[in-house]
Amino acid sequence: MASTLKGLILSGGHGTRLRPLTYTSAKQLIPIANKPVLFYGIEALREAGITEIGIVVGHTRDEIEAAVGDGSRFGVRVTYIAQDAPRGLAHAVMIAEDFIGDSPFVMYLGDNFIIDGVTPIVEKFNARQSEAMILLARVANPQQFGVAVLEGEIIRELVEKPKVPPSDLGIIGVYVFTKSIFTACKSIKPSWRGELEITDAIQKLITDGRDVRAEIVTGYWKDTGRPEDLLDANRMVLDRVAHQIEGDVDAESRVEFRVKIERGAIVRRSVIRGPVMVAAGAVIEDAYIGPFTSVGENCVVRSSEVEHSILLANSRVLSLQGRVVDSVLGRGASVERGDERPRAMRFVLGDNSQVKA
Ligand code: G1P
Repeated sequence: MASTLKGLILSGGHGTRLRPLTYTSAKQLIPIANKPVLFYGIEALREAGITEIGIVVGHTRDEIEAAVGDGSRFGVRVTYIAQDAPRGLAHAVMIAEDFIGDSPFVMYLGDNFIIDGVTPIVEKFNARQSEAMILLARVANPQQFGVAVLEGEIIRELVEKPKVPPSDLGIIGVYVFTKSIFTACKSIKPSWRGELEITDAIQKLITDGRDVRAEIVTGYWKDTGRPEDLLDANRMVLDRVAHQIEGDVDAESRVEFRVKIERGAIVRRSVIRGPVMVAAGAVIEDAYIGPFTSVGENCVVRSSEVEHSILLANSRVLSLQGRVVDSVLGRGASVERGDERPRAMRFVLGDNSQVKA
């Protein structure tokens, strides 16, 4: 009988590439099709039969705890593990040792989105317990990943962010470990970036002759680190949205293709062309919402056109002449036409905001 796996989700970090969204929100809570990316990870672990989950949190701890709670609504039990600073993935593993105990565990980087979840790697691990297993994918830019050299499915070597990559097989952020990883983590030194790298700890296992194996992802996955990644993952999930109209749509509106409109949303004199998702409390009036757009809770889109975009909760698009495309609006952000004279564009933008007008 395979021993029960625990889960360890890493949900710290600063999310610098997603600023300004991450000035006020943890990157793991940014929604993909109106659901925080972290929730997909928790659900993926649950689906693989993992119900004891530790979440390593940093400075956004309160926010993550408020969103996830004790895990009961996902059917799991969540324990929070505080990391005082982003000291590396191996450091996160070490501080989770008490929680993990003797169990094998799946470590999951909380901003990853993997459409096939973790069940394939967990099943493989349960069938043949190795010392460690790592999920890999063929990537176009291996310089930005930990990179593996394989012999069959055995991992012969791992290099973190190599200048000259020995292969195009990148580590995407799901690992299965047994307790030997704790000893390995304790034996390594910080890297050039001052972090304890999990890649170095796994390399230690390999050097010691342990059985470390790879599972290669073939389905869709994304590290949701940049705004364009969010739009991409959003598109992928919306592509699978089921048609379901529970909101209040008037007779003067047209809803085409697959569209999900939650109860409590209001649509007046508008065209909505799916795949689109509109959350509860949103108001859409005299507007066009085009394919691959998700409209968050309590958003307002009035006399405007929005397509291939993500509107986070409480954001507003009002009376714009041009169509908004490929855009991500943060919580409570508003874009509107002003009627003041002189006619001009007027902005109040957070640090690192981007406007292409
Ligand atoms: C970390 C790991 C790296 C892995 C990557 C996946 O890098 O060190 O091996 O490929 O996650 O996202 P980081 O995101 O900390 O630069």
